[in-house]
Amino acid sequence: MSDTLKAELLAVALEAADRAGALLKDGRPADLGVASTKTSPIDVVTEMDIAAEKLITDFLAERRPDDGVLGEEGASSEGTSGVRWVVDPIDGTVNYLYGLPSWAVSIAAEIDGETAVGVVTVPMRGETFRAVRGAGAFLGDRRLRVRPAPALDQALVATGFGYLTTRRAGQAEVLRTLLPEVRDIRRGGSAAIDLCDVACGRLDGYYERGLNPWDYAAGALIAREADALTGGRPGVPESPELTVAAPSGLFERLQSRLEALGAWHD
Ligand code: IPD
Ligand code: CA
Repeated sequence: MSDTLKAELLAVALEAADRAGALLKDGRPADLGVASTKTSPIDVVTEMDIAAEKLITDFLAERRPDDGVLGEEGASSEGTSGVRWVVDPIDGTVNYLYGLPSWAVSIAAEIDGETAVGVVTVPMRGETFRAVRGAGAFLGDRRLRVRPAPALDQALVATGFGYLTTRRAGQAEVLRTLLPEVRDIRRGGSAAIDLCDVACGRLDGYYERGLNPWDYAAGALIAREADALTGGRPGVPESPELTVAAPSGLFERLQSRLEALGAWHD
């Protein structure tokens, strides 16, 4: 992975995220409604998810025509360059629909299958998180570092829930046991923001079952580059089965507790 290529991909990701963030912030219709649903009646898509994905994929096609793309709202192309973009045009769509501020644009670039660049922009906070593999994670000029690992019973842990009823029932069961074992739980509504909040020390840890690559690709790199550990079940990288992020010391305890509670299956 050449540094020049990574720098170019970072610049492209930052500009795409900035343009999409501006469209979403300034162009949100007051009467925004649901355009369609996906895996269940509460898994919604708005016209703005579609417009933002189109803006990003058009921009990528212009700047990097030989790259592949995978996007939440259906963008999918192979490419020939070895670079693939993994795009979530709005992570936190339900928050966006309701006018809550916790939503983000998440853009990652993989080189030969490994995430090399991640950008998560949170327009309503005026924050853009970025990371380049091997070169650290930043928020503006500030290099990001996780908080020191607390004991599990002192940890502020974020999580999220899927859109399928059976999955949610299992997630509620896990939470019923875990909640009394930690400081508290947060459910912000955007996995990408949760991972960035672990990176910058606003949360101690995060876990969720059922994410898609576009939810976690950029945020997980940002967390790792801020010295978090990320993974799934013990010994396995993060995946749709399970995503866990926390500083070393907490990560192992949280991961083994989630393993024992069966947080990796419905
Ligand atoms: C969702 C958010 C949410 C998480 C869900 C995701 P979306 O993404 O990241 O926090 O709990 O699992 O699907 O649908 O808003 O792009
Ligand atoms: Ca998402």
